[in-house]
Amino acid sequence: MPRDAFTTIMSSLDNPLIVVTTAEGHERAGCLVGFHAQSSIDPGRYCVWLSKANHTYRVGLRATHLAVQFLTSADLALAERFGTLTGDETDKFAGLRVGPGPGGVPVLEDCPHRLILRRVVLVDEGGDHVCVTGEPLAADSSGPFEPLRLSQAQHLEPGHRSQERPDPPTERAAARGLAGDGSRPTSMISVRATARSKQDAQRSGHHITPPAGVPT
Ligand SMILES: Cc1cc2nc3c(=O)[nH]c(=O)nc-3n(C[C@H](O)[C@H](O)[C@H](O)COP(=O)(O)O)c2cc1C
Repeated sequence: MPRDAFTTIMSSLDNPLIVVTTAEGHERAGCLVGFHAQSSIDPGRYCVWLSKANHTYRVGLRATHLAVQFLTSADLALAERFGTLTGDETDKFAGLRVGPGPGGVPVLEDCPHRLILRRVVLVDEGGDHVCVTGEPLAADSSGPFEPLRLSQAQHLEPGHRSQERPDPPTERAAARGLAGDGSRPTSMISVRATARSKQDAQRSGHHITPPAGVPT
């Protein structure tokens, strides 16, 4: 496949940027995301793709909810904070106005355009990002806005390169004896999915992992 044509098409799309936040217990996480999209109208579904390198992904594996904050053209500083720092080393939420959302998800109160998602399924097709599909539980917006776009943030140096696989996954995971071999935490190794989904997954080679607490 001609790589430059693929890159040309993707950069021409100039995706809007979001900050995805999540939490498990008291461990909060969030990162800048350019890979995201609505994936169904009825039922409503929204997908975000998280890098396996990121602290946010590793916390998200154990979380039930995500908040999607849509950035505006005035939010470059927020993009820099969430896109260049890592929760492995820093509390990115320090000094920000943060409210509690469903399932304990941290909500950035100074971002007036957002979705709250309940995690429905996580698909790992073996690439460097996983797809997290969520059911929108709430949507808020103060009105039409000019999104912050990839072209305005492409100078930012990500906190993690996509090839990285930090070990142990997170400090809290390490304390609880979860896998430290760079793979999924042991709590997620048993793949629980409907029989139909399992068959689909086997056919496609995808792993489908519902979050903890989702009935199977
Ligand atoms: C412009 C830009 C777009 C990015 N898009 C994504 C993305 O779609 N998914 C993702 O998981 N990380 C993406 N990242 C990388 C993370 O935001 C970045 O590595 C972050 O520092 C990870 O933080 P964490 O380790 O606290 O989760 C992007 C970074 C930048 C600068």
